[in-house]
Amino acid sequence: MKFLLIIFFSIIFVNVEAQRRIINGTTIKPSDAPYQAVLLYPNVSVAWCGGSFLSEKFVISAAHCTFGREHSKFKISGGGYWFEPYSTKFNVEKIVNHEKYNDSMTYNDITIFILKTIKNFPERITFVKLVKKNYEPKNGELMMITGYGKTEKLLDNNKVLKRAFVPIYNHQKCVKDYNRILIAGEVTKNMICAGYEKGEIDSCFGDSGGPLLHADTKELVGITSWGGICGGRYQPGVYTKVSKYINWIEDVMTKTF
Ligand SMILES: *[C@@H]1O[C@H](CO)[C@@H](O)[C@H](O)[C@H]1NC(C)=O
Ligand SMILES: *[C@@H]1O[C@H](CO)[C@@H](O)[C@H](O)[C@H]1NC(C)=O
Ligand SMILES: *[C@@H]1O[C@H](CO)[C@@H](O)[C@H](O)[C@H]1NC(C)=O
Repeated sequence: MKFLLIIFFSIIFVNVEAQRRIINGTTIKPSDAPYQAVLLYPNVSVAWCGGSFLSEKFVISAAHCTFGREHSKFKISGGGYWFEPYSTKFNVEKIVNHEKYNDSMTYNDITIFILKTIKNFPERITFVKLVKKNYEPKNGELMMITGYGKTEKLLDNNKVLKRAFVPIYNHQKCVKDYNRILIAGEVTKNMICAGYEKGEIDSCFGDSGGPLLHADTKELVGITSWGGICGGRYQPGVYTKVSKYINWIEDVMTKTF
């Protein structure tokens, strides 16, 4: 089971990392998601993962996007299409992965990029607000995901930003549904599932590391982490549950100046 799991993760989530994508979403402009960050790696031509700006200095994303990778090889793009010269490309001072990130199980899949300071931080970039510590998602509550992804052709860069709306999936059902799938991971209480039972009707998820925002409050509820087949039946997207990590995030943001 774990062996299969590892193979599954290495194939789906490492080698084809940048293919985590919004399925059946709508195309939007970068200014419609001004908090969206793009992790460029190993060079500025590759949109590797998504993220969200927390402040001028911090970008939050998923640890599986950064685990075992050198911070100096990343650039973070914001404020426009990542492939256009007018988007701002930040250098990275440091990456803080969660100390308990488990690469084979994708536990604690959360990371914070500390950006090198620049002189004129672009006004086009806005910051996401974190959800409250005691926030508990309700079944069916609507969330919003965004990301640059790939087209149907796996190795084709898709230079389009997509958005989709997905409802919170019943947690116990999500645990059970993933238990039934042989080569999938374990859904823990530090994760949130969102999507439709039918899958195909709507989306899977945005680029890994990208935001799951509450559709009304626009607070950051989750970080795109893993899933089964995108858009697959009974395989909703699985997100890191941000409310469980508020202390950790605040610690990183206050202690690492
Ligand atoms: C960027 O990285 C990709 C993937 O490793 C590679 O194919 C491409 O040639 C690189 N581009 C540059 C400009 O180094
Ligand atoms: C990851 O979690 C699994 C399952 O709990 C555990 O067996 C394994 O030792 C963990 N790996 C690390 C590196 O902590
Ligand atoms: C996208 O939606 C269409 C029609 O609703 C559906 O047939 C298709 O399978 C969906 N795509 C994916 C990848 O789920």
